Amino acid sequence: MQSKHAILDALEKMRGEFLEQVKKITEELAFEHQAGKLEELRIEFLGKKGKLTQILKGLASVSPQDRAEIGKVSNQLKVEFSNALEQAKSKMKEKYYASLHDAEWIDMSIPPAAELHQHFGGSVHPISLTQKKLENIFTSMGFSILDGPQVETDYYNFGALNFTDDHPAREMQDTFYTEQGHLLRTHTSAVQVRGMKKLKPPMRMIVPGRVFRYEEVDASHEHTFYQMEGMILEKEVSVSHLLYLMQTLLKEIFESEVEVRLRPGYFPFVEPGFELDMRCLLCKGEGCSVCKKTGWVEVLPCGLVHPEVIKSGGLNPDEWQGAAFGLGLNRLVMMEHNIEDIRLFMGAHVPFLSQFKEILN
Ligand code: PHE
Repeated sequence: MQSKHAILDALEKMRGEFLEQVKKITEELAFEHQAGKLEELRIEFLGKKGKLTQILKGLASVSPQDRAEIGKVSNQLKVEFSNALEQAKSKMKEKYYASLHDAEWIDMSIPPAAELHQHFGGSVHPISLTQKKLENIFTSMGFSILDGPQVETDYYNFGALNFTDDHPAREMQDTFYTEQGHLLRTHTSAVQVRGMKKLKPPMRMIVPGRVFRYEEVDASHEHTFYQMEGMILEKEVSVSHLLYLMQTLLKEIFESEVEVRLRPGYFPFVEPGFELDMRCLLCKGEGCSVCKKTGWVEVLPCGLVHPEVIKSGGLNPDEWQGAAFGLGLNRLVMMEHNIEDIRLFMGAHVPFLSQFKEILN
């Protein structure tokens, strides 16, 4: 004969034992052994011949009321046990995923071994290669390298550069505007005034970077491309300084004399302004899609900095003079590597990109 209390005590004792075991399994066992152990535990306690069944055998000898009470307690226990098992399983999964994360985590900043990189690794984007080459040329001539935001204000992109309010370049077909009233800079000239404020004259700076225009994309037009702005401010700067700088630059880039021509060009932020064209190296001047069949490619718009821009930089135009240029990096790289389609640069086309295996130092 077993009393109701003896059975309830046994159930309570079993409860303590079960919960302790679950805790032990989840805390002490490696997660890959937990699932099996938890299942063994479930069978040991709740299985057909398990501890609960053994204890409940004693029900035969108690009164119907007591039986009902014990039945209720044992049902609650079953619910509690299966909840505990579920919880243990989800903890186990967490541990499992955490371990996967640890095992698969890669330090992306570790540079690859040079030989591996040559054979299997990624390559530096051709624009970055040329950009770096130019940065080296310019820093050796005393230029600082500056950066600026790609999402700009109308002021730095246009207003500070002497664009009138109705200048056509502000129109929607050229410029991407954000809903907040900012814009994606349409040229690296947006950094001219920022640079003047940051570096006090006399100064020389270059600004390589991404620019954006609302363009119909074809073999020679992209909505996203790269420029390198150059600017010098000195007590005295003349057009001959500017030309000398431009010629030296092209000679360094192409490692030979390049045929160039100068045309007047209009930009509100320079006066006088020029378009410097170079003979198309792709077709040797015969006419192709890159030079739009003209034999010439515009690569270097430039000019003397407009007095209004010098004022925007907080400087006195009677005291300081400047020259600026905006190198179109994409076209330059196309000339350098005989690339006929500008879309390849942003195309993430692996066979194209993997041709440029030079490693930057
Ligand atoms: N920012 C001009 C453009 O993108 C180029 C330029 C730069 C012209 C500097 C003159 C001087 O078209």
